[in-house]
Amino acid sequence: MPKAIVIYLSTSGNTKAMAEAIVEGLESRNVDAKAVNFHETSIEDIKAADAIAIGSSTFYYKMLLPMEKFIESLEKATVADKVGAAFGSYGWSGEAPVMIAEKMRELGMDVIDPVLRIQYQPVEKDLEECKMLGKDIAKKLKKKFAREEGAAKPGEAIAPEEVKMGEGGH
Ligand SMILES: Cc1cc2nc3c(=O)[nH]c(=O)nc-3n(C[C@H](O)[C@H](O)[C@H](O)COP(=O)(O)O)c2cc1C
Repeated sequence: MPKAIVIYLSTSGNTKAMAEAIVEGLESRNVDAKAVNFHETSIEDIKAADAIAIGSSTFYYKMLLPMEKFIESLEKATVADKVGAAFGSYGWSGEAPVMIAEKMRELGMDVIDPVLRIQYQPVEKDLEECKMLGKDIAKKLKKKFAREEGAAKPGEAIAPEEVKMGEGGH
């Protein structure tokens, strides 16, 4: 089963609620997922994850410094090529998720575009969007695994989408 970790910084619970809904979406697509506060995250969890979502609320037009330091502490060798996603609650400008996605790309991750931002406390429809992000991460993971399997056994395990694209091209 693919694994995902959803890491967050949240001062009043808004980004945390988003993280938990993203986990729900992942689990509904059979991905083993958990939401963890950034300062409780272990390197083992990060290494074991096929996908990493990172969320932070915005303060003074950026992410808070401890989260910035946390992301900078991740090593390229550990996270490169993993699927990534950035999210966060915000009030009026919402820069943090964009900055997170930028840093994830610098680390060589395959980041879902666009980032997911929700204004203040997520309501039901916002939580549905978060679940959708979880499902999108799962979809990306499945495509990635199908491609890797295809590369290992040429001609055998080709993702259905790839077959369709080829057929439609002529
Ligand atoms: C001191 C302070 C500064 C803030 N600065 C920003 C900001 O620059 N841009 C923005 O979009 N929201 C800003 N916000 C709003 C928070 O991002 C927003 O309340 C968010 O929902 C908090 O989510 P959390 O509970 O996950 O931390 C600020 C809030 C506070 C209390």
